[in-house]
Amino acid sequence: MTAAKLKVIVTRKLPEPVETRLHELFDTELNESDTPFSREALAEAMSRADVLVPTLTDRIDAGLLSQAGERLKLVANYGAGFDHIDVSTALSRGIMVTNTPGVLAEDTADMTMALILAVPRRLKEGAELMQSGDWAGWSPTALMGHRIGGKRLGILGMGRIGQAVARRAKAFGMQIHYHNRRRLREETEDALEATWWESLDQMLARVDVLSVNAPHTPSTFHLLNARRLKLMKPTAYVVNTSRGEVIDENALTRQLRSGDLAGAGLDVFEQGHQVNPRLRALPNVLLLPHMGSATVEGRLEMGEKVIINIKTFADGHRPPDQVVPSML
Ligand code: DGY
Repeated sequence: MTAAKLKVIVTRKLPEPVETRLHELFDTELNESDTPFSREALAEAMSRADVLVPTLTDRIDAGLLSQAGERLKLVANYGAGFDHIDVSTALSRGIMVTNTPGVLAEDTADMTMALILAVPRRLKEGAELMQSGDWAGWSPTALMGHRIGGKRLGILGMGRIGQAVARRAKAFGMQIHYHNRRRLREETEDALEATWWESLDQMLARVDVLSVNAPHTPSTFHLLNARRLKLMKPTAYVVNTSRGEVIDENALTRQLRSGDLAGAGLDVFEQGHQVNPRLRALPNVLLLPHMGSATVEGRLEMGEKVIINIKTFADGHRPPDQVVPSML
């Protein structure tokens, strides 16, 4: 199959240079309006495309995959996370799935670090006070937060993003602790001065800030459930820039309301953009609209990865970022 003849359907608006390049290389249909595709529109696109370029707002489940046309051979996801795609079913139907790992790790780690600093230091309350026009001037006891230097950071999920967070946090004087399915190589642990905890429960009880950097998979769904959240110190903070589903959001909200946790910085939510109103109402949370990887540079690099994956596939080779079920 030649690249120029490939019918590529893109489900959301992408940065302009990415769209231009997709147009040059393939028979591409874009979504100029950026309105998310309905399930019917997705099914229709999957019945005609050789390649679908979805994003995390598209749920590509077994039902949709069962209606895919014979032509559909590649789902080239624009994004690193692929929990919205039923990869096993896709593969069983001969449809390959690719993603865009790596290029958003540093940006996401920057945003994670921003939350690790912002929540204990009460940045949101300070900014709100200034914007309200009510600031009465400096006071020795106003808006006192907590120092992060010397505190213990627990990182749940020590992949590329977790390690990038660890490097930053270490530079801020935090002690690095982590829980990961696999322990890091000794030299990586030494460089980060990181302590591995085989038991997540034991780590949770000891950390001052917890950063969630594990992907959402069947085994991480609600990994931070009510029981585990209760193991944390009431003075501890939770930061999540990965996927909302890793935390039981209702349990987290209850503990923040009752003062059993000190605060939270969240960029992702269990129900996508439907954020629990009780969570939104809390003063000790800083909530962001899933913008961890939202840099011009990162989004262009994600587009480049999508294009390389499609082109490699069209040339009859294995795309560099193929997702395989063992990654789940
Ligand atoms: C991804 O690519 O999965 C990220 O969550 C987008 O920020």
